[in-house]
Amino acid sequence: MSKPKKIGILTAGGDCPGLNAAIRGVGKTAIVKYNMEVIGVSAGFLGLLNKNFIPLDEPSLSGILTVGGTILGTSREKPFKKKSFLSVDKPKIIKENYEEKGLDALVCIGGNGTMKTAYGLSEQGMNIIGIPKTIDNDVWGTDQTFGFDSALNIATEAIDRLHSTANSHKRIMVIEVMGHHAGWLTLYAGMAGGGDVILIPELDYDLHTIMKYLKNRAKKKKPYSIVVVAEGIRKPKKYTSAAEYIADSIETETGIETRKTILGYIQRGGSPSPYDRLLATGYGAEAVELIANNDFGKMVVKKGERIESISLKETSGRLRVLPTNHPLLEKAKGLDICLGVKKI
Ligand code: F6P
Repeated sequence: MSKPKKIGILTAGGDCPGLNAAIRGVGKTAIVKYNMEVIGVSAGFLGLLNKNFIPLDEPSLSGILTVGGTILGTSREKPFKKKSFLSVDKPKIIKENYEEKGLDALVCIGGNGTMKTAYGLSEQGMNIIGIPKTIDNDVWGTDQTFGFDSALNIATEAIDRLHSTANSHKRIMVIEVMGHHAGWLTLYAGMAGGGDVILIPELDYDLHTIMKYLKNRAKKKKPYSIVVVAEGIRKPKKYTSAAEYIADSIETETGIETRKTILGYIQRGGSPSPYDRLLATGYGAEAVELIANNDFGKMVVKKGERIESISLKETSGRLRVLPTNHPLLEKAKGLDICLGVKKI
């Protein structure tokens, strides 16, 4: 019989609910089903550079399923990013430390940036498996990343709560949802929370169209309006947030009292939803099956109801933005939700 494998796990990039569920899914499957040794790597790729390891036994993985954040810590360290020509060869150091630690494989849990790094490291000869996470839901190749559903619940509840205060004061409420490049979270939360105007980075907006729509609502005696904007929509440089720009423009143009709410990191904190716990656990367990089969250089993905895998090469460097022909956008238009797009 061959020697049990020794595997590393790290979490990299922005945190999100479900990271601990994924760590537990990997760790418990590896230990219980395959008798593997599991080593946690602290703070993403930084931990591999600094040899900051945390041995994980089965008891240490208990009680973390429902806990937000990541027990391993995270960082936005990008080892392939060259800062200057004098910089050290970080990928080389990472490979040396991986070999010195005697790792047979490394599970990298992260978003787009992490998958790009994971592919780079697998090209250097390391045995890598990727697990896609992010509240943005923008990792190429999977139907859904874990973290998205929890953030959707949080953002929807926040929008729900704005309705009553908006109604009491007869105000326009602008709420900013996370997502620099992708509008998944904004569109889904905006629709689920009954937003009247929804602005996403994938669709360029026309301010005049938005103002006309809001003035028309006021004319129709609608007592208030909810405007849901993604943080990544176009805005002038002098504004620090999209919500501030849109709220300022609305108040100036319509004369209706307008307030802004920036949801920020609340969307990434706290306990994962049941859906994300299941998805993260399934991803973690599948990652270990790939390792057991020596099937490396892969990222686990959700395709319909199944968890499968694709090559890291396929996902690396690609972003899954919301398609502009997404069915939900059509439904929104049919409901007279304003997407900011000029009618031709
Ligand atoms: O990628 C997840 C995310 O929360 C984005 O929605 C947001 O734009 C970004 O991270 C914020 O990054 P940071 O944690 O570095 O402030």
